[in-house]
Amino acid sequence: MKKLIIHGNKPLEGEITINGAKNSTVALIPAAILADSTVVLEGVPDIQDVHSLIEILKDFNVETHFENNTLTIDPSKMESIPMPHGKIQSLRASYYFMGALLSKFGEGVIGLPGGCFLGPRPIDLHIKAFRSLGVDVDDDYGVITLTTPNGMLGTRIYMDVVSVGATINAILAAVRAPGKTVIENAAREPEIIDVVTLLNKMGAQIRGAGTSVIRITGVETLRGVTHTIIPDRIEAGTYISAAVAMAGEKGIRINNIIYEHIESFVAKLDEMGAMMEIGEDYVHVYPSNELKMVSIKTQPYPGFATDLQQPITALLLKTHGEGTIMDTIYPQRVNHIPELNRMGANIKVDGDMIRVEGPSKLSGAPVKASDLRAGACLVIAGLIAEGETVVTGVDNILRGYTNIVGKFTDLGADIRLIEDDQPEE
Ligand code: UD1
Repeated sequence: MKKLIIHGNKPLEGEITINGAKNSTVALIPAAILADSTVVLEGVPDIQDVHSLIEILKDFNVETHFENNTLTIDPSKMESIPMPHGKIQSLRASYYFMGALLSKFGEGVIGLPGGCFLGPRPIDLHIKAFRSLGVDVDDDYGVITLTTPNGMLGTRIYMDVVSVGATINAILAAVRAPGKTVIENAAREPEIIDVVTLLNKMGAQIRGAGTSVIRITGVETLRGVTHTIIPDRIEAGTYISAAVAMAGEKGIRINNIIYEHIESFVAKLDEMGAMMEIGEDYVHVYPSNELKMVSIKTQPYPGFATDLQQPITALLLKTHGEGTIMDTIYPQRVNHIPELNRMGANIKVDGDMIRVEGPSKLSGAPVKASDLRAGACLVIAGLIAEGETVVTGVDNILRGYTNIVGKFTDLGADIRLIEDDQPEE
C-alpha cells in the first residue's frame, strides 16, 4: 500500500511549474484517434490516467510513444475492438472513446465504471446526444454498444444540464457527421476550447467553443498535427491554496498559469485577503496577514470550479469566521470532510450545505484520500497540520497530479511517498 507521510507546519518557499491539464488530456487522447496520421501532444502530464489511456490505445492497436511529456499517437492501424470490460473501466473519461469511435468507425462497445454509472454521475446526456445524431445505443448494465445502421446526421442538440463530458462527447461524435450540428447550452470550460483547437487543427470545422452554442460542420477526414495542451487550472488552484496557507517569507512562485482560467478562484482568495502578485503567466503568493473566511458556491465555468472546492477547504481552516460551501455540481462531494474533522477541523455537512468555522488548529492524523481532489485537500491539510499526517488512498491522488511529492519537496515540504506491505483496506 502506498502512503504519503507528511510532517507539516513548515513554511514553503520556491518555484514550481504547472503541468498540462488533466481534463484536457483525457479528452485530447481519444480525440487524437480521429486523425488518419500521427498526432503529437505536447505538455502531457505524467499521471496515472494518461498511462491508463495509453494502455487502452495499445489494445485498440494504436501505436504510442510517451517521453518528456510528449505523447505521439499513431492511429493509422487502429481497429474498432469491443472493450466491454477491463482497462477501459479504469477511468471515467473512457467515455470519450464512445464519441471518438462513433466518428471513426460508426460503432463501438465501451464498458464504463459500473459504480459511477448509476450513481451521481450519469451519462444520460451523452447518450441523448448520440441518439439525436442517429446512433442506436444499447446500455447493458454499463456496457454501452453503439451502432449506426443508417449512418449519422448533423442535428440540433440541447443539453438539459451544462456538462463538460457530454459537450465534448457530442463534439467528438458530430465532427464527421454529414451536415450541421448545433450544440446548445454547451459547457464553456477551457478544456473544451482545447479539444476544439486540436480538432480544428486536424481539419474539423467547429465554431463557438467557449460559448454556450457550438456549431459543427461535418468533415470527411482529419489529419495528424502537433498540439500543446493548456496548463492545468485545477493543479494551479491546488498549489495556490497550499501556498496561501503556508508561504514563507520569500513566497512561492507558481509558473505556467493562464490567469483568466482561474479568475473566479483568485477572486475568492482576494476576498480572503491573500497576498498575491499576478503575472502574465504566473502567480506569486506571499505570506498573508489574518485571512478572512469566505463562502463558496461552485458553478459551471467561468464560476468557481467544483474540482477546487475540496482543495480550498483545507485553506479555509486557516481563515477567521464562519462560511458555507455549496457544491451545486456535485453536492455529495464531501469525502474530505470527516477526514479534516479527524485532524481537528470544525466542519458540518448540513444537507447540501457545508458549514465551516475557522480557524482550526490542525493536528496530523491518519486520513484516507477517497477521491482525487479529496486527496489534494488532505495533502494541503497535512502540510498545514502540526505533527505527522499519513495519507492512504494515494493512487487516487497520483491519477491526477504530476509528481506531487517532488513539487512540494521542491518548496521545502517534508513529504514522502512510501510503500509498505499492508494491503489497502
Ligand atoms: C468533468 C471533469 C470533472 C469535473 C466536472 C465538473 C473531466 C474528465 N472531468 O466531469 O473533473 O468535476 O467536469 O466540472 O473532465 N450530468 C448529468 N448527465 C450527464 C452528464 C452530467 O446529469 O449525462 C450532471 C452531473 O451529474 C453533474 C453535472 O452534470 O451534476 C456536470 O457534470 P459534467 O460536467 O458532465 O462532469 P464530467 O464531465 O463527468
